[in-house]
Parts: sequence; C-alpha cells; structure tokens
Amino acid sequence: MTAELPPVPDEDVARLGGDGNITRKRLLQLGALVVPAAGLAAVTAGGGFASASVPDTAPDTAGELLACTPGQATTIAQTEGPYFKPGSPERTSIVEPGRPGTALTVSGFVFSRSCKPLGRVLLDFWQADNGGNYDNTTYRYRGHQYTDASGKFTLTTIVPGLYPGRTRHIHVKVQNPGGRILTTQLYFPGEPRNNTDTIYDRRLLMNVRTVGNGKEASFDFVLNVA
Ligand SMILES: [Fe+2]
Repeated sequence: MTAELPPVPDEDVARLGGDGNITRKRLLQLGALVVPAAGLAAVTAGGGFASASVPDTAPDTAGELLACTPGQATTIAQTEGPYFKPGSPERTSIVEPGRPGTALTVSGFVFSRSCKPLGRVLLDFWQADNGGNYDNTTYRYRGHQYTDASGKFTLTTIVPGLYPGRTRHIHVKVQNPGGRILTTQLYFPGEPRNNTDTIYDRRLLMNVRTVGNGKEASFDFVLNVA
C-alpha cells in the first residue's frame, strides 16, 4: 500500500530514521486512519496523574523508525526525575503572564503502534521556568490535557531554561485511557548540552522552528498499544 502513495514532503518525514516512507501524519491526511472510541484516563480528582509511583512502560529500544509502519518503535521511556508533582491542573497553556521566556508551542499526535490516532490520551507536562527552576510549591509550568478525537495535542508554554547537569528538555507523562503510563522527556535540536547530557536521547528530539519571536515544536508519540 505504501508504495502506491505519493512522496512525503520533507517536513512530514519522521525526525529520526525518516526515510521518506509514509508517515502517520500523511496517513491522517489520506484519511487512512480510524479514530478509536474515547475512554477515561486514570486521573485524580484534582486532575493529572495520581502518583509518581505508578510504573512506567519499559524502555523500548527496538528501533528508531518513526515512520508509520506496523509494529513500529514506540516512544521510549525516560526517567521521571525529581520534580514531578501529581495533580496538575487541566490546561493546554501553562504560560505564566508577566513572566519572562520565549513563547513555545509543542504540538503533535499520539498514535498506536498500528498508526491509529488515539483520542482522550492524557498528557501531563512539567518543565522548568525561563531561569531553569521548577516550582514544586504551586503548579507553575505544569498542566495536563487530553488529545482530541484525531489524536492531536497542543501545549502552549515557554522554552524551558537550563539547569545544572541537564540539557534543555520538557517532561511529560502520556497515558492512553486505561493503559500504562509512559514517562519521558522531549528535547530541542541544536543544544550544545545534548552532547554531554547522559539522559538525552535523539529519539526524543522535537522538530523546532522559529516563528516570529517564538518557537513552534512538534513531536508525535507512539504508544505500546495495538
Ligand atoms: Fe527536568
């Protein structure tokens, strides 16, 4: 089937291991995907994930191919780190008015291994502020949201600041309704510390472009569900 489809523009080719084969986004454009029924995610009454102790999915290092092919590699897991805080508010924007930072949007889709877009997937983001500090007292720069019926999410935030020992990154937990939690991190291309941060993994690089005074990033998750 894929051999009969037209070439995919460069911007649609997966960021890693992309070789011009059909991508999930392209399949969406072609209407070849089926949206699953919505479900309920396991969240606390206050929203967000209930506990940091819920086991993550095991890292999947089967491959780096992110093009939409059956049995494709799932998004790898990474350490939660010390700054996760359960119960984040439900919101797609975690921008703090009046606080400094370069505007950033992160958008993308959540797919199953068979390239189905997954609706009602819970995504819980947390990150450092412009100065590289996490707020563990309130929920500043924290928020959870759900994918829409097409599997799409959009986070409105700022570019996180750097802090000692790490390259620039955003933390996220992703959970298909009733499924296991994937805890991972997203990275920015072109960061000098990507070469020295031992946690950094290029499979989690976002596509990032500059738009005006801000940045637009994209990343598609692939969960270990059929
Ligand atoms: Fe962090």
